[in-house]
Amino acid sequence: PSVPTASSARLGFNSIPGSKIDAVSVPEGYTAQVLAPWGQPIMSGGSEWKRDGSNNATDQANAMGMHHDGLHFFPLNDDGSDGLLCVNHEYIDQNALHPNGSDKDADGIRSSVDQVRKEINAHGVAVVRIQLIANEWKVVDNDPLNRRYTGATTMNISGPLANSDKLKTPFSPDGSQARGTLNNCGNGYTPWGTYLTCEENWPGYFINKGTTTAEQDRIGIETSSTTRYGWETVAGSPEERVDEFARFDVTPTGNSAMDDYRNEANGHGYIVEVDPYTANSRAVKRTALGRFRHEGCTFGKLTEGKPITFYSGHDSRFEYMYKFVSDALWDPADADAKNRMAMGDKYMDAGTLYVAKFDADGVGTWLPLTMTGSTKNGGTLADHFTSLAEIILNTAGAADLVGATPMDRPEWCAVDPFTGSVYLTLTNNTRRNAATGTNPANPRLNNKFGHIIRWDEGETHTTFSWDIFVFGSDAAGDAATNLSGLNEFNQFASPDGLAFDKRGIMWIQTDNGADEVQNYTNDQMLAVVPSMLTDTDGKQQTIDDANQGELRRFFVGPNGCEVTGFTITPDYTTMFVSIQHPGNWPYSDNAAQETPNGMTLRPRASLVAIRKADGGALGV
Ligand code: FEO
Ligand code: CA
Ligand code: CA
Ligand code: CA
Repeated sequence: PSVPTASSARLGFNSIPGSKIDAVSVPEGYTAQVLAPWGQPIMSGGSEWKRDGSNNATDQANAMGMHHDGLHFFPLNDDGSDGLLCVNHEYIDQNALHPNGSDKDADGIRSSVDQVRKEINAHGVAVVRIQLIANEWKVVDNDPLNRRYTGATTMNISGPLANSDKLKTPFSPDGSQARGTLNNCGNGYTPWGTYLTCEENWPGYFINKGTTTAEQDRIGIETSSTTRYGWETVAGSPEERVDEFARFDVTPTGNSAMDDYRNEANGHGYIVEVDPYTANSRAVKRTALGRFRHEGCTFGKLTEGKPITFYSGHDSRFEYMYKFVSDALWDPADADAKNRMAMGDKYMDAGTLYVAKFDADGVGTWLPLTMTGSTKNGGTLADHFTSLAEIILNTAGAADLVGATPMDRPEWCAVDPFTGSVYLTLTNNTRRNAATGTNPANPRLNNKFGHIIRWDEGETHTTFSWDIFVFGSDAAGDAATNLSGLNEFNQFASPDGLAFDKRGIMWIQTDNGADEVQNYTNDQMLAVVPSMLTDTDGKQQTIDDANQGELRRFFVGPNGCEVTGFTITPDYTTMFVSIQHPGNWPYSDNAAQETPNGMTLRPRASLVAIRKADGGALGV
């Protein structure tokens, strides 16, 4: 049978206006339900969430974490009414987490061990079973598959850095393990039924007050005063340091890595694989996919007998876009493998990491980050690194040497199931100026609205062709700004979350848009079917004045939030998204509650389950 190259799906809702209220907005005929907010217990060890912020660290370890982000639904039955949600918890708001905010003093020194433990436990991943009962999703309390992976959970290391000297710590003398996953932002999943959580802004959780390494300088490990939350400050005296907190201070103090925590941060910055279907299973950090501030991780279109490609962007200004190509060739039977983590070992531990170079003529090159990979000044990476493990440890530094294209903050990637085209959000970059210059793939100075770039892989793994699918803008922007002709009903800025469902609908989410758009609407989610926008000659089109009706606003979040993370049940009747850092949401009945630090109520990041009132398929 011939493979269709365009989706037959057509959006079946009218674009909704923007909104700026303490509630979500959905199209007519749709419903939205709050599900599994921060602090809701999912295991028996935690007590009910308390409005005054007084839940302790143990409660938090047994409850949903804070600041929900990427997520994925793993079905447990055929009709999509029972399944497991894996949810990222990116970071924390100390004001909301504690009764009266952080206990840090004027020097940034913390005093409460329980507060710090609670903060560590509010990070990471939640796995939670949910069921649809009478048109309402419910958390299955204390299900045997419910669990938390936190900033302290022991995880295995696999790939080139496993057991290397750079991973050896007092906790793991053989370099086979690391503790915790931090700043889990975007996500992915695998063809064999596991979840991928991505470690994004982890460098700010570690501090080196002594001599830093070139790799630490490149990635931006903290060097002055205290870390982002000051966890290392409760470690006690140097003589009686408390290992669980001291490890965030990676300053070399002794004669070897066994005498201090110099290698502790080296266990962070990876794609982490979790098997949701196996209770108590150990998470694995897949180092072959590179070490940087991973936003997401998305696999390319699968072809039997060909390698699997995973795409991951480094979300920071002027950072790069990467892909990993497996050595192992895809065997469709592996989708049903009983030992799922063995499939991760097979497809994610050995392969080639590449970084993208975008050229002016709409073509591009994937540059290999291997010992034999050519550097831009002649020579190879072997002139600069002693092993693949060293290259991976300083992935961004290696990418500098080969001449990768500095991008406007690569966030999520999504792959069109019909065309195989890869879409990438470039959220914004207000520091792109005359001094830094532009490049063809990032053509706007002061790029505060962001854009979405797209490419098709070439015949080999090292070439691709690309174009820019849509530029963010306010509707009132002049012709030089509103390059895609957006209108009131689809103006957006700062595209971030991005996903295709299998029908070929692409869902675009935004994070903290430019004022011109933010004055009109809160963060939002739009939808479009890119593969239907083709010329008669089959060439894919970009968003322009002629096809404005095809990019439609589907959802608007409450005040203060970012809309992020997308997953949909296999029957397309429920979509789950995360509402991160809302301002005054989700409760409207909180007039009598505590009001710490000037907040009018204690906001809770949460999932939202979106359905049609008639139970039909969403979006169409
Ligand atoms: Fe955590 Fe790049 O967003
Ligand atoms: Ca993001
Ligand atoms: Ca963002
Ligand atoms: Ca965020």
